[in-house]
Amino acid sequence: MAIRTVLRMGDPVLLQKALPVERFDTPALHTLIHDLEDTMQRMNGAGIAAPQIGESVRVVIFGQKESDDRQNPRYPDADAVPYTVLINPTLNPVSDVQEDGWEGCLSVPGMRGIVPRYTRLHYTGYDQYGNKIDRLVSGFHARVVQHECDHLDGILYPMRIKDLKDFGYTNVFFPNQDIQDD
Ligand code: NI
Repeated sequence: MAIRTVLRMGDPVLLQKALPVERFDTPALHTLIHDLEDTMQRMNGAGIAAPQIGESVRVVIFGQKESDDRQNPRYPDADAVPYTVLINPTLNPVSDVQEDGWEGCLSVPGMRGIVPRYTRLHYTGYDQYGNKIDRLVSGFHARVVQHECDHLDGILYPMRIKDLKDFGYTNVFFPNQDIQDD
């Protein structure tokens, strides 16, 4: 278990298509999950994807454990998202409806941008033990899943911003809010 260095935009690993996990419940996979968890907690992330710590495999984690009732200082207004380990995910929007919302990313520190995302989403995948996950979600939960799973295909949120006027420094867009300037 360790807090790992988060790769920042510009690193070619973040642009790779990550490979599927083939074996579940292995020591290597559990170590990766623990490292992701430690790193996400330290950075107050809403989620993190394995490629962000240099491991190009299809593993993301997101959300908050029930035992952790702190509000995320990076997303103080966000709905609670259950802590989830999601491996080899598939995402299917339930409708074509998209919604604009602010996003940040641990790999793009100190910045925020407005990104369109599908509002309702059906997703599937597996946890670290190989148990199937199958959920219908909406709102911030749907947004987080789309953001994290984009990392597995080499997509960073700035690539999805429609108008680059909607991309800038967190403490310039939100000067009066105590959003952590990562
Ligand atoms: Ni990100």
